[in-house]
Amino acid sequence: MKTVIFYYSGTGNSLWSARLLAEKLGDAKLKPMKGADALAAGDAEAVGFVFPVHVWGIPFPVMTFIEKLSLRPRVYLFALAVNAGQVSRALVQLGGLLDGRGLKLAAGYSIVLPSNYIPWGGAAPAERQKARFASARAKLHAAAAGIANRESGPIEKGPLWQRIVFTAIYQMTLKQVHKMDKDFWCDDKCNSCEICVRICPAGNIEMKKGKPAWKHNCEQCLACIQWCPQESIQFGKKTPAYERYHHPEITLQDMLR
Ligand SMILES: Cc1cc2nc3c(=O)[nH]c(=O)nc-3n(C[C@H](O)[C@H](O)[C@H](O)COP(=O)(O)O)c2cc1C
Ligand code: SF4
Ligand code: SF4
Repeated sequence: MKTVIFYYSGTGNSLWSARLLAEKLGDAKLKPMKGADALAAGDAEAVGFVFPVHVWGIPFPVMTFIEKLSLRPRVYLFALAVNAGQVSRALVQLGGLLDGRGLKLAAGYSIVLPSNYIPWGGAAPAERQKARFASARAKLHAAAAGIANRESGPIEKGPLWQRIVFTAIYQMTLKQVHKMDKDFWCDDKCNSCEICVRICPAGNIEMKKGKPAWKHNCEQCLACIQWCPQESIQFGKKTPAYERYHHPEITLQDMLR
């Protein structure tokens, strides 16, 4: 296999981006970061990382996965940082992480898709979502051409003020993320289907008396709240009124694979 693309995704935006990129590249295999071992890149000529931007940086599980992954010295490395408009320093951070291992991130693209951050509001109106899907498609097309030609650059980033202010918040928040599941709760619509248990990439949900219970090892990917078929999972007080979001071309089965 010429290219291996590793992805991490809570609500399907990153999986959709990775899938589209793989289709455009041709000889590329998609692998979920979850469950992949250190040798999963094999002898691929090019290796890509596709992940959502969380709190203006790289999600913790993505960081630990990349740190452990065995990579050949001169492998061509690329990334897509999938975000809702504020990529900030995520790709620069990834470049630094790889640099620390003597490797080079050749190209890093920001892919803007609808926000899944339901604590700040529900799904965007359909028209706005459609516009983002269209521009992301065009961007992925251009990124695929650059990657296929093994181009160096770009490493996309947000404005300086964003990188300074939000990186400080990222560093302060990183250690608190695991306990942010204390605001999840489950309403009466729950039918004990256990999909939340199966979809959680962190194994952070268990069933207690037929209802989910969160174990304080959360990665805040928001898969549980966004994919619950009964819309029974809530976060804080406002989410009962908010519309859920996941990428419309990604199915629950795709996520559970
Ligand atoms: C905990 C969390 C933090 C987020 N922080 C950012 C952010 O800093 N900048 C941004 O543009 N989007 C942010 N988002 C939105 C996601 O990056 C965006 O919706 C992404 O497309 C989700 O990808 P996924 O569906 O593959 O999980 C955040 C989402 C979550 C869940
Ligand atoms: S996915 Fe929703 S309905 Fe199913 S067990 Fe979890 S909370 Fe209940
Ligand atoms: S508990 Fe929910 S938000 Fe936290 S890691 Fe699991 S699926 Fe993601």
